[in-house]
Amino acid sequence: MANSVVSIPPDLIEIARNAKHIVVLTGAGVSAESGVPTFREAQTGLWAQYDPQELATPQAFQRNPRLVWEWYEWRRELVAKAQPNPGHLALVKMEETVPQLTLITQNVDGLHQRAGSRNIIELHGSIIRTKCFDQGHIVTSWAATDEVPPRCPQCDSLLRPDVVWFGEGLAYDALSAAISAAQNCDLFLAVGTSAIVQPAASLPLEAAQRRTPTVEINPQATPISRYMDFVLSGPSGQVLPELTRTAWE
Ligand code: OAD
Repeated sequence: MANSVVSIPPDLIEIARNAKHIVVLTGAGVSAESGVPTFREAQTGLWAQYDPQELATPQAFQRNPRLVWEWYEWRRELVAKAQPNPGHLALVKMEETVPQLTLITQNVDGLHQRAGSRNIIELHGSIIRTKCFDQGHIVTSWAATDEVPPRCPQCDSLLRPDVVWFGEGLAYDALSAAISAAQNCDLFLAVGTSAIVQPAASLPLEAAQRRTPTVEINPQATPISRYMDFVLSGPSGQVLPELTRTAWE
């Protein structure tokens, strides 16, 4: 592609073609081109406009459950209107092409699923699922009510989104599957993540420590850039399709 945003190094093409298990870690940047705001970018990031301590902690929910519920309702509507972009679709193509692909996402927007990716580990949960605050019952429907948030049909506690908030632990199964994938792959891609939030940010380093080839795809440098074998500086909606095209078409 003559005017492509980034050229894929021949060494990387060779590694990708020979890879038996690729692990991809995605962050909010992969959905940016779908119009879903990221978290940490100055001006446009959600955490530049909203205080996570008021919206994304268990304490915030206990203080003001209505505010938190309504904020997530707004985000749910926003992601429902968004469409997967060429970056999401390139990852579907990659999964169809390589023997094994594990997609570890920090995103809660469900866009990888809607694009058609299948082997997904949702490290930070899903905004589309609802659970109850006290018991963690996963709830798919509840009685019509004026109360905001509504209550769990099983235990009557307040409902909340099934996402991981600051101060909460990640689901054990998801985290251990993600660590095991990072330790047992032959190519690791970190895409659209600021690589600041732990433990997700340590996954690319887990691979790097084992001398597994690592790639970062991001228009900006991050704290992990210097540990990556390849840094492809550009938007994932352009770089990922270019990578799949050059490696496998
Ligand atoms: P951030 O908002 O921290 O970082 C987004 C990254 O995407 C930045 O490094 C941008 O440079 C990059 N980016 C922007 N546009 C891009 C594009 N078109 N293509 C590729 N990259 C692009 O988002 P995360 O790293 O996902 O946690 O944040 C991690 C966690 O922090 C989130 O899962 C969320 C948040 O608090 C929870 O909700 C639990």
